[in-house]
Amino acid sequence: MSDLHFKKGYDDKLESLTNTIGKADLLLLSGDLTHFGKERELDTVLSILSGVSPNIYAVPGNCDTKAIAESLKKRGISLEGSAAIAGECLINGLGGVPQWRKVDYGFTEEELLQTLNQGADAATALLNERPGGYIRILLTHVPPYGSKADRAMFMKHVGSKAVAEHIQQSQYDLCVCGHIHECVGVSMFNEVPLINCGPARRGYYVVINIDLDANDQLNISLQSKRDGSRFWG
Ligand SMILES: [Fe+2]
Repeated sequence: MSDLHFKKGYDDKLESLTNTIGKADLLLLSGDLTHFGKERELDTVLSILSGVSPNIYAVPGNCDTKAIAESLKKRGISLEGSAAIAGECLINGLGGVPQWRKVDYGFTEEELLQTLNQGADAATALLNERPGGYIRILLTHVPPYGSKADRAMFMKHVGSKAVAEHIQQSQYDLCVCGHIHECVGVSMFNEVPLINCGPARRGYYVVINIDLDANDQLNISLQSKRDGSRFWG
């Protein structure tokens, strides 16, 4: 899920969406959990979403404040510049966006690249500790520049060049992002499936199924879904 932009008073809407989603082994949140919210909004979001899965990992979006980003780290669920193993998945991530408006949680492309590399290094360290054939996932808020997931108003590309460069130089099995609400869906970028989850505040989410097929080959299926509910916007 991405772009909840949760505000006080939308508890029932979020609960209704989580009831539609049902249960998952793992829940990844691609940022904008709150709309410049406070700790108490984050508390509410995470408490409601724990109904979907006890295993939640997140990165902060541009509309999450620095305090929210810090809080995600303190709770041990942030993948901003870090990594985690969850079941068959090895995930590392990036928060924020390239500097945009003053109010946003934003960084220079150089800083974004640095954080991406920090996350990838953390993933390598985990892999050395617990070797295995994991499904490698990159979780970011901002999509890669020049992709099908980063066109604001379906026109101008507004993604991150650092994210694009990082994906081109790495070997991910899946890239999960959000941020550009109108570019919801699954596309390919540099031969890697790229998921823009779409705005959960308008009922969007993506289901990722990972199975072994009859020939013991790994089979990943992706479904972009939408519930009828809207929080706002
Ligand atoms: Fe957003």
